[in-house]
This record gives sequence, C-alpha cells and structure tokens, in this order.
Amino acid sequence: MKRLGILISGRGSNFEAIARNIAAGSLDAEIAIVISNRADARGLETAHDLGIQTACLPSRGLDRETYDRQVLAELDKHNIDLVCLAGFMRLLTSTFIRRYPNRILNIHPSLLPAFPGLDAQGQALAHGVKLTGCTVHFVDEDLDAGPIILQAAVPVLDDDTVETVSARILAEEHRIYTEAIRLVLSGRYTIHGRRVIAAP
Ligand code: GRF
Repeated sequence: MKRLGILISGRGSNFEAIARNIAAGSLDAEIAIVISNRADARGLETAHDLGIQTACLPSRGLDRETYDRQVLAELDKHNIDLVCLAGFMRLLTSTFIRRYPNRILNIHPSLLPAFPGLDAQGQALAHGVKLTGCTVHFVDEDLDAGPIILQAAVPVLDDDTVETVSARILAEEHRIYTEAIRLVLSGRYTIHGRRVIAAP
C-alpha cells in the first residue's frame, strides 16, 4: 500500500476529502501522517476524529532550512511514498524538494499560471475572469509553479463573492486532488518538459 504524508496549515478539507475517498475505496493508499505547521489547524482535529496519526511541528520563528529538516525527519519515520501539500502555507526549500523528486504535489485554487500566491480566488474576481478553477501540480522551488497534473474549471458568475466562487472551486479541488494522487501513485504518466502526460 502506498503511503501518503499530508501537510496542512488550516481547515484541512482537502485532506479530509482524500481520507474519505480512501475510506470509500476509491483511492488505494493510506495516509501515514498528517503534519501541521500550526497547532490550531482544524485539520488536526479531523485527523484525530478519523484515527489518522498527526504531528504538529510549529514553524514560527524557524528558518526554512531548519524547519524543513524537522518535517523531513518526521516523514522519514513513516516511509512516505508521496507528499501532498493541502493548504500548507509555506514554500519548501530545495533540500526538501530534492528528497522527494516528483513526489510532492500541491493544490492551488486557480487555473495556474494565473493567480499564483495568496487569495487566488480574490485575484480572479478582481481581474474579472469568467472562468477560474483549480490546479494540482508537482512542487518545485518556485511558488505554485511545477508541472501541472490536473486542472478543473468553474464559471465565475456575475453575483459571485470570494466565498461563493471559493466554494464552487473547492468542490472541484476535492475531486481532482484524489484523481491526481491516483495517477501519480499508478506511475502511469511521463513528464515532457512541463507537460505531464497520462499513459493511455
Ligand atoms: C485550498 O483552497 C487549496 O487550494 C489552497 O488552500 C486551501 C486549503 O483548504 N492551497 P483546505 O485546508 O484543504 O480546506
């Protein structure tokens, strides 16, 4: 069974969707550890409720190298096959990325490369786009930048607020993150430049 390490900072709804898909038998994997850099992350409670092991590693005041070494040490204990960032609000160092080459995924609430960084949904509304969505991508050293695995689009409606468009995007996030994990764990894809091509 492939082992996932999930990194969160807050609500943890993407983590929960992955956990529920595993429980429902639609993703063949197990969540070996959920790591949060914030003690007050709601996702930690969800993990406890679901009987999933957690580690809280507060990042405040630590430089990135020191912090990433702590996270790597925790992941090492659990023999992780794939690292999934799910609302983890920190950039990873190259030390971290080199330890898990093409084995770190992130989900971002926009159609990248549009609107990287914070408040992607607010950026999309302010820009006036008519379509937005979400992206699952491999993580490299740049923010929201690695090769794209899957995307889903949703409409932006005239009466949308950040909350309403975020909710529409989130439903798609919960669907495509599991799908992307399934593809990557299957190994049935190749990467050509920036293009991730699923095997037929
Ligand atoms: C999601 O919108 C995700 O795309 C972004 O942060 C948010 C995390 O939500 N990276 P949750 O913690 O998974 O509920």
